Amino acid sequence: MSHLSQRPEKPVVGIPMPHESAVQHVTGAALYTDDLVQRTKDVLHAYPVQVMKARGRITALRTEPALVVPGVVRVLTGADVPGVNDAGMKHDEPLFPDEVMFHGHAVAWVLGETLEAARLGAAAVEVDLEELPSLVTLREAIEAGSYHGARPLMETGDIDAGFADSAHVFSGEFQFAGQEHFYLETHAALAQIDENGQVFIQSSTQHPSETQDIVSHVLGVPAHEVTVECLRMGGGFGGKEMQPHGFAAVAALGAKLTGRPVRFRLNRTQDLTMSGKRHGFHATWKIGFDAEGRIQALDATLVADGGWSLDLSEPVLARALCHIDNTYWIPHARVAGRIARTNTVSNTAFRGFGGPQGMLVIEDILGRCAPQLGLDPMVLRERNFYRPGQGQTTPYGQPVTQAERISAVWQQVQDSAGVADRWRDIAAFNAAHPHTKRALAVTGIKFGISFNLTAFNQGGALVLIYKDGSVLINHGGTEMGQGLHTKMMQVAATTLGIPLHKVRLAPTRTDKVPNTSATAASAGTDLNGGAIKNACEQLRERLLQVAATQLGANASDVRIVEGVARALGSDQEVAWDDLVRTAYFQRVQLSAAGFYRTEGLHWDAKSFRGSPFKYFAHGAAATEVEVDGFTGAYRIRRVDIVHDVGDSLSPMIDIGQVEGGFVQGAGWLTLEDLRWDTGDGPHRGRLLTQAASTYKLPSFSEMPEEFNVTLLEHATEEGAVYGSKAVGEPPLMLAFSVREALRQAAAAFGPSGVGVELASPATPEAVYWAIEAARGASATTSGGHGPDASAAGGNADAENADAGNTDPGNGGTGTADAVNADGANVDGRDRAAEAAALNGA
Ligand code: MTE
Ligand code: MOS
Repeated sequence: MSHLSQRPEKPVVGIPMPHESAVQHVTGAALYTDDLVQRTKDVLHAYPVQVMKARGRITALRTEPALVVPGVVRVLTGADVPGVNDAGMKHDEPLFPDEVMFHGHAVAWVLGETLEAARLGAAAVEVDLEELPSLVTLREAIEAGSYHGARPLMETGDIDAGFADSAHVFSGEFQFAGQEHFYLETHAALAQIDENGQVFIQSSTQHPSETQDIVSHVLGVPAHEVTVECLRMGGGFGGKEMQPHGFAAVAALGAKLTGRPVRFRLNRTQDLTMSGKRHGFHATWKIGFDAEGRIQALDATLVADGGWSLDLSEPVLARALCHIDNTYWIPHARVAGRIARTNTVSNTAFRGFGGPQGMLVIEDILGRCAPQLGLDPMVLRERNFYRPGQGQTTPYGQPVTQAERISAVWQQVQDSAGVADRWRDIAAFNAAHPHTKRALAVTGIKFGISFNLTAFNQGGALVLIYKDGSVLINHGGTEMGQGLHTKMMQVAATTLGIPLHKVRLAPTRTDKVPNTSATAASAGTDLNGGAIKNACEQLRERLLQVAATQLGANASDVRIVEGVARALGSDQEVAWDDLVRTAYFQRVQLSAAGFYRTEGLHWDAKSFRGSPFKYFAHGAAATEVEVDGFTGAYRIRRVDIVHDVGDSLSPMIDIGQVEGGFVQGAGWLTLEDLRWDTGDGPHRGRLLTQAASTYKLPSFSEMPEEFNVTLLEHATEEGAVYGSKAVGEPPLMLAFSVREALRQAAAAFGPSGVGVELASPATPEAVYWAIEAARGASATTSGGHGPDASAAGGNADAENADAGNTDPGNGGTGTADAVNADGANVDGRDRAAEAAALNGA
């Protein structure tokens, strides 16, 4: 078998190609799950009965009033479930619950001849509720000690010795918000039963095999009676890794009971109020630095807001812990994790899967502490990078083998962005503009690729060559816009040595490739590409034998390039189509199942140690912002990114992923502001931001004015498919540079050497309060601005008071006196001096 990373002559991988469905996407011809309904006869519509209370026990559920609504066919309740009444993998998620666990929880579903009939039926269902006390915010849950099971602890070195050796110790608290996926296509499925009782479900799911598992549990039938297909998704972003299963099971149950096809598609409000989001976190931390600003010790506790059920909260929390180091070597660490149980939707996977949350904590710490250490944030960051050749490991014990790439992307982005010169321009601009400030921040990332749980790191494929030479590929991954299918076609064409137009791709189905992993953890290409390549290699070996006979050569001397087989040193050729036809007549098998598993991984979840990741993805971003001192409004003036995707399989796709990931990250950190009704009134627990009008997403108007994305060159990743690296999630975390630039711009309104706290999301309002706090730090003499000019942390109370929200959970900054400088030696070196120092280095 050839080396996984090695590319043959004239590969189809590496060529910039548009997404395989780009034309269909932009013309509207692309079909999504719910479009299939128009092509299906006698379809029933399913509509949820949502209970609009944060928590309560159901004492009575009367469905009769719904059944008299014209067009209502049936009401599905827990009594109808033949198998297990549970939608999760942890058996803590009743599909039809006896207890309402969050505002908007669906307790029954109505099937109607029309959507309107189903809707009216759902409104007619009567639910009696004995209301119970609820915990809506993370802070309420922490105060009440309301947690789900897992308590991971990651330890390395000797934490006490680390603090004893520290010249500067700071501690603080940081609470930051989650994020709504807001995929364009909401949750949807269509279920049908054939004449044998076989269930066929088309679902907008990132994880067809698990949708199949849950449906078979709920129906009480073996997995081979259930087939799940996913044509494509209009975005998943992690939101369709776990959450589609219960919905699909409802449709399947309805189809089973009525014998008719059943579809549902959540409307936007239902999707927003019923499906899980990115976990918001609460972090407490204590960090020690030596006299030069090198991290000695970190002691932190991260609490994830799990929502009402576990869902994927445990692995999300594990990944958060595994990423708190980001690009920084922390010799002594103790990081504990917990999952709070709140009465909200069950929070779930979201691009980065906890990684962004862990990394945000350390980036926030460094951004806050740098001025107090008298260091420019860039200097502090760089000083703490993992260094090559020193045997450094992550806090969970994995060697950091490509530390040189951390510095390579960091240096390259500074050069391409002209950071040093622009700092001087910015300093001059700021000196001339008292009411407007600019700032430029550079941040980097290290993101582990592979599923933490070793077993998930496998992929399967089925490749078929037809007699006419055309090729049909199947693999276990799903397409959600990320371009996986495009890459898989390029991999197949490359391995077989044929032009791309010879290769077609079939929709993802569980009856083609079994037991697949979720298309998640950015590992879709590594796993399915490995499997496609493996299947194509088997076929190629067989065809090379056939060609060798035809060419009178040794099979090892034959190459198939651009659809033509030739022996080395000979002019004789056999065209691909002829070769395939000959092979068929020689009764050579023209189909192959491919398989791939990632080698060299190990992870012990108990001791929280191991090498769970095949490799790390790296990148760095330089972002310049301009902030208005009167309002806190800001613009992103320019973004430069250098990102490591190994040897790109498909450069246009990869650049699209980097751009999209970055913008989605910037949305999370600066605009998107989830708010719940946390008061004690009748709507307690209601999601207030349940429409695009109240939940601000990044759009064209928020794009960086200048946006330069470069892929790191000569970056072959040994041991990964054609030398490539995963790209789906890591770029999201490059958006830390936006947040840090905003922090620095806010700080520029005050005296130097002040560590400014910034809420997350850093909405214009939050930035405004950060500016006020920065001004306040000097305003003790000038009279001050804002409600509490005396302390940086005053902004937390001010913000919450202004929002009429006593819970600091929604984007609050945590405690007022969060940063306690302990022996900090503030020497007040300014940015220009540091820039010069760095430049000279
Ligand atoms: N890109 C688009 N356009 N749409 C998506 O839903 N999901 C992201 C990322 N990029 C997503 C996306 C997430 S969360 C992951 S894990 C990866 O794509 C999954 O696909 P991959 O493993 O093929 O990269
Ligand atoms: Mo992505 S959050 O791993 O689906």
